[in-house]
Amino acid sequence: MIALTTSEKKVKTLASSPTMKNSVSPLLVSILNQKGGVGKTMLAVNLSYALAKRGLETILIDGDPNRSTLVGARSIVYSEEVPLRVMSETASVGQTGACRHFLVDTKARPDPVDLAEIVQRSTLIIIPCSTKQDELRVTGSTVKLLDSVGSIKHRVVLNRVHPNNREDTLLSFKAGLRGQGIPVFDSVIRDYAVYDEAFGRGLSVGQLRGKTAEKAWTDIQQLLEEILRD
Ligand SMILES: Nc1ncnc2c1ncn2[C@@H]1O[C@H](COP(=O)(O)OP(=O)(O)O)[C@@H](O)[C@H]1O
Ligand SMILES: [Mg+2]
Repeated sequence: MIALTTSEKKVKTLASSPTMKNSVSPLLVSILNQKGGVGKTMLAVNLSYALAKRGLETILIDGDPNRSTLVGARSIVYSEEVPLRVMSETASVGQTGACRHFLVDTKARPDPVDLAEIVQRSTLIIIPCSTKQDELRVTGSTVKLLDSVGSIKHRVVLNRVHPNNREDTLLSFKAGLRGQGIPVFDSVIRDYAVYDEAFGRGLSVGQLRGKTAEKAWTDIQQLLEEILRD
């Protein structure tokens, strides 16, 4: 389906290059929410590109049978040499080699058994969610479910935040969520149409030019910094 041979060749070349930095602890980040359309695939594609862009060999795994991750990232490795491989969950079995950095776009509407498995295998679970009430409600129950299976690895990232939102408003919004027992990243992802454009072209926003692409890319990189700091 995806020409893994070509990307694998590229990964091999990069892995043996002296600029390759593999100093970050092993990561298996699962992107999860029981609601669809919250930005799981967008985050999975862009965060995995950001990791690979740092020289870290990364595998992006499409765990959703709708295969949108494979589509959304289809052109990344063809437009640039980055140590990134994109594969379906089934194809990834036995194909991960020595890679230690994984981003998993999990399937929509996971049941409690799926959740327990995700908690068990992940080093971090990211739950994207906008500030809309209906998404917050479902996210609240996703968090409760994760709590009930003993997870201490999950954190919500506010997505589609209006670019004009004031910093202090955001701070009190995040404080409110934390007050309800919902762990939240300090970094937020703002709403920019460029994410849609990137998805349509099978690329990361980090590969597009222009002012909003730069702003979107900054948000993604800040979130990655926060992930790697922990
Ligand atoms: N921060 C954002 N700004 C603008 N559009 C976004 C943002 N995050 C997601 N989107 C768009 O919202 C839609 C749903 O996102 P997607 O990642 O496919 O959600 P999911 O994988 O959770 O179903 C897509 O069209 C995507 O491009
Ligand atoms: Mg998706």
